Amino acid sequence: MAAMVIVIVRANQEEEEEADRIVELPGQPTVSFRQFSGYVTVNRVAGRALFYWLTEATQNPFRKPLLIWLNGGPGCSSVAYGASEEIGPFRINKTASGLYLNKFSWNTVANLLFLEAPAGVGFSYSNRSSDLLDTGDRRTAKDSLEFVIRWLERFPRYKNRELYISGESYAGHYVPQLAQQIIMYNAKAKHPINLKGIMVGNAVTDNYYDNLGTVTYWWSHAMISDQTYRQLMSTCDFHRQKESDECESLYSYAMDQEFGNIDQYNIYAPPCNNSDGSAAATRRSMRLPHRPRHPSLRQMAGYDPCTEKYAEIYYNRPDVQKALHANTTTISYKWTACSEVLNRNWNDTDVSVLPIYRELMAHGMRVWVFSGDVDSVVPVTATRYSLAQLKLATKIPWYPWYVKNQVGGWTEVYEGLTFATVRGAGHEVPLFKPRAALQLFKSFIAGKPLPKS
Ligand SMILES: *[C@@H]1O[C@H](CO)[C@@H](O)[C@H](O)[C@H]1NC(C)=O
Ligand SMILES: *[C@@H]1O[C@H](CO)[C@@H](O)[C@H](O)[C@H]1NC(C)=O
Ligand SMILES: *[C@@H]1O[C@H](CO)[C@@H](O)[C@H](O)[C@H]1NC(C)=O
Ligand SMILES: *[C@@H]1O[C@H](CO)[C@@H](O)[C@H](O)[C@H]1NC(C)=O
Ligand SMILES: *[C@@H]1O[C@H](CO)[C@@H](O)[C@H](O)[C@H]1NC(C)=O
Repeated sequence: MAAMVIVIVRANQEEEEEADRIVELPGQPTVSFRQFSGYVTVNRVAGRALFYWLTEATQNPFRKPLLIWLNGGPGCSSVAYGASEEIGPFRINKTASGLYLNKFSWNTVANLLFLEAPAGVGFSYSNRSSDLLDTGDRRTAKDSLEFVIRWLERFPRYKNRELYISGESYAGHYVPQLAQQIIMYNAKAKHPINLKGIMVGNAVTDNYYDNLGTVTYWWSHAMISDQTYRQLMSTCDFHRQKESDECESLYSYAMDQEFGNIDQYNIYAPPCNNSDGSAAATRRSMRLPHRPRHPSLRQMAGYDPCTEKYAEIYYNRPDVQKALHANTTTISYKWTACSEVLNRNWNDTDVSVLPIYRELMAHGMRVWVFSGDVDSVVPVTATRYSLAQLKLATKIPWYPWYVKNQVGGWTEVYEGLTFATVRGAGHEVPLFKPRAALQLFKSFIAGKPLPKS
């Protein structure tokens, strides 16, 4: 009897898995790896389901680890950014009519699981519309844990696989928070999840030190005047979610009068234009919750010729959605790279995730933190000020690391944590420096310091 039950369960799993199999995406080049995508229900009462897209490793997927990738915002999609511009195997071409291969895809190293979280991001949805108005860090972490548990039930061959979680920007909250949820779950679970480590890039870490480091970056990169810098330092509190009017007006002055039309996410890149030549407003929704809400942020420029625009065309195509098993319940709004509604109504945020870093290190997790050093939104100085608060002992002193005979950036290995910069990379490191980013990922997965030559 028991044996029969097992056989039936297994057959159902295979069916479920097979139902999620992507045969081929419209305009996709032929590939050797398998892909799956679909929904996992994370809350039955509210009717919340999270959308995922798995692109398996190009070789030996059965022996390669599993990486969950998350993007930030809050409210931005890892299908839009992570999968389509950063670490995924495909890029969307200019007419949004086809895909081409990313030479530096991270699926040469691991199986990549892109998760659109929380509900309301991308294809992930909730049948309780009020969910979009009160989601925050807590619900995101809890729903993401539920996703991981249920997803592993659907894909049992991944159950004992080494698992890593990575992401950037506001996912600097999601990644450690999900890892913490998994550790708490594992403490009681019969079959613990084999989580090995996390890696975050240009990550929102600690409100106070991030804000301090951001203003310092603006000054040290000659984006603002001495006077504005001094006034910001003496007027702003940097701890609070909502700054004084006086401080906010200094931020406005810096951005409106002093920054000019630059891409804040890569200060040396040409900004992205609309067809009339005006600055495009593609990055508006990546505003961080503890930043003053500011009209000039709406005019913020995107990077490379506006890749989210291709994503927003491609992922709204009915044939693409069908191939992805997405939007099966006829969601009432369009797929967007970032959800403004979620972003505007973000309910709760940790003031600092440094205590979670300590917890993860105490549990022997591998923790890597990297930073593209030409990003002025979550800049390298912010990350350095934040990490300094951990007061970690140095294991390998600061050195330049190399990729293809060039300095890829600098790194220092601490007891329990590795820090690395990526030279010349903006906020989305794998977009701007794909080769260096892939080296970073290889070293992280191997658990080895970055190459010294
Ligand atoms: C949301 O509602 C639709 C329509 O009633 C239903 O088909 C779907 O299963 C619901 N989603 C979840 C996660 O319960
Ligand atoms: C985009 O891909 C489609 C399908 O492969 C192809 O027909 C089209 O020419 C490509 N367009 C560009 C601009 O590369
Ligand atoms: C935007 O327009 C300016 C001026 O016409 C041009 O120099 C720049 O290269 C354009 N940026 C992009 C990303 O096309
Ligand atoms: C879902 O499908 C409906 C009907 O085709 C469409 O109007 C809507 O924009 C889609 N929403 C998303 C999030 O894909
Ligand atoms: C909203 O945030 C508060 C704390 O700021 C928390 O107590 C509450 O549970 C959160 N609501 C939801 C729906 O998560």
